Amino acid sequence: MTTFRSGRHFLQIPGPTNVPSRVLAAIASPTIDHRSPEFGELGEEVLTGLKGIFQTSNPVVMFPSSGTGAWEAALTNTLKLGDTVLMYEAGYFASQWKRLALRLGLEPIVIDADWRNPVDPSKIFDVLKADVANKIKAVCVVHNETSTGVTSDITAVRRAINEASHQALLMVDTISSLGSVDYQHDSWGVDVTVGGSQKGLMLPPGLSFNAISKKALEEHRTSNFPRSYWDWGEQLEHNASGFFPYTPATNLIFGLRESLKMLLVEEGLIHVFERHRRHAEATRRAVRAWGLNIFCADEKAHSNTLTAILSPDNTSSNKIRKTILEKFDMSLGTGLGKYADKIFRIGHLGYFNDLMLTATLSGVEMGLMLENVPLKGSGTQVALDYLAKTA
Ligand SMILES: Cc1ncc(COP(=O)(O)O)c(C=O)c1O
Repeated sequence: MTTFRSGRHFLQIPGPTNVPSRVLAAIASPTIDHRSPEFGELGEEVLTGLKGIFQTSNPVVMFPSSGTGAWEAALTNTLKLGDTVLMYEAGYFASQWKRLALRLGLEPIVIDADWRNPVDPSKIFDVLKADVANKIKAVCVVHNETSTGVTSDITAVRRAINEASHQALLMVDTISSLGSVDYQHDSWGVDVTVGGSQKGLMLPPGLSFNAISKKALEEHRTSNFPRSYWDWGEQLEHNASGFFPYTPATNLIFGLRESLKMLLVEEGLIHVFERHRRHAEATRRAVRAWGLNIFCADEKAHSNTLTAILSPDNTSSNKIRKTILEKFDMSLGTGLGKYADKIFRIGHLGYFNDLMLTATLSGVEMGLMLENVPLKGSGTQVALDYLAKTA
């Protein structure tokens, strides 16, 4: 059997996402001296642009790492060894962040929650209210849980912390919502926001970010956590003139300049968010028309960047994914953690348009048919109707 595949692969996992060819072209530019004046201008431009993406006037630092590095940087730059942190575990990535905190020698208090629902701020309020000694130093939540397709209300979490009159820092993971779903680091009162390059920013993996509030920066000054590579202090010193304390990922930064231009200048964030909302709505309509169940159980918490779908009884979701990959050259997200082989995830974020979505849904529908999954109707047709009506 030939392994040749004509046409292009459909990368419809919820990140890494499709990289636009103009971003790839920018990344392919000749590498420059990272201590040259030309690089300083580039650094200043992208560090300023990132503030627009995080909707902050505070500093954003950037590491040459995957998102996990920015998780670590958020904790080690603000806390002390052995500090207690409150972690809301409602999905695979929240549980991975907790595992990292444990490995660092922090003491997580875990709110073990149902993965099908968003963060319940009242649970955070109760734990903080009971913490009269202010032992908890940070509250960590994931804005958009990529493993489940559930988005949480960060303003409600902030309110819960305020109403409990608690001093804990608020740390938020926006790895799969940043640059796709509205997220306001400053006005939502977040202290450290964690981001990554490979999803809404339409770049390959390899860059990660921390947006930092004034309060987090004050905590950084007294934090004695052992750290070196992830230290904000040196980053900020060098960033002031557009440089970095060590060799930056120069070519990814060329790509970042291009993607920031696309998101902030050419399309505009408001339109980017609306595009993601509309594609997510079309996808959800398709799933319902197939007669399948969306994993997220709360209508108000549906993610606009991905949709997780429960496999119907006794059908392996990985078998459906395998058929779709082999027959139609499309990758879908696998179920993670306790939902391995029980759900599959459609990514509809990043560099994406109506026809890419309808092709994606066609591939899913054909795969379900080949796997003899009983369908109530054509979800693709319902999505086409919605997209045409709202075009
Ligand atoms: C919400 C979320 N947090 C954290 C991570 C971990 O990031 P990385 O795999 O880039 O280290 C991911 C990865 O997909 C994610 O989706």
